[in-house]
Amino acid sequence: MALSDKPIGIFDSGLGGLTVVKAVLENMPNENIIYLGDSLNVPYGDKTSGQITEFAFNNTKFLLSKGVKAIAIACNTADATSRREILQCFDIPVVGVISPASERAARLTKNKKVGVIATATAVKSGAYERAVKSYLSDCQVFSEAAPALVPLIEAGKINKTDTETVDALSSYICPLIEKGIDTLVLGCTHYPLVLEIVKELFPDINIVCSGTSSLGALYDRLKGDNLLNVSGKKGEVRFYVTGEPSYFEKNGGLFLGTSIEGKVEKAVI
Ligand code: DGL
Repeated sequence: MALSDKPIGIFDSGLGGLTVVKAVLENMPNENIIYLGDSLNVPYGDKTSGQITEFAFNNTKFLLSKGVKAIAIACNTADATSRREILQCFDIPVVGVISPASERAARLTKNKKVGVIATATAVKSGAYERAVKSYLSDCQVFSEAAPALVPLIEAGKINKTDTETVDALSSYICPLIEKGIDTLVLGCTHYPLVLEIVKELFPDINIVCSGTSSLGALYDRLKGDNLLNVSGKKGEVRFYVTGEPSYFEKNGGLFLGTSIEGKVEKAVI
């Protein structure tokens, strides 16, 4: 098999990385994908950097064992804490989410005030502030940790009628609006699952989704390394989770807009 025909490995702590899978399926339909949701350890956002790096290494090794040609870290928290170590220890192209999302936010903001909501560990790392300022040095970056969101989203509470989710989003984003931001980064790949609620609550700001923003970087990296799948065949996706496949099948299928019932395998890592 040509190296370019091999799958892209994508990992996250759970459902969030499906926002990247969806973007790849829609824009690079020939690519094969191996997706790993480390649902046994979700949420990553309240764990230490050391713990997350250990999970990220295990995820990377699992994907490598499946013969992937490149890895997309579809998790801001793992990108913030572990990307450098992964690059140092594994000889494979690796693309993250923080740098592409920051570049997009820096391009979109008119008043140079960018807000970020992300997990507690991602906020604590300061990775978004550094990345946005690397593209727009005099930009003000305001961050809010949003610890309630990932558990709510993993529990499938992603509808406008889920008041807990709506209230949590308001409580995290309102303080950023008060700071005068004109652009908000959803700095966790889980958050686009509630994008419609965010848009409805805050219709006047630019919203940047970290997962979809990474698509261009992934494409460029694959193209640059001659790894784009040009077979002309429709790609296939294989889903693995470290926890129970059933909840992932239900909520993941809803998000992807296609049933993945019976298609999620248990990963032993
Ligand atoms: N989706 C992940 C992120 O982008 C991880 C969320 C979590 O597990 O806390 O940060």
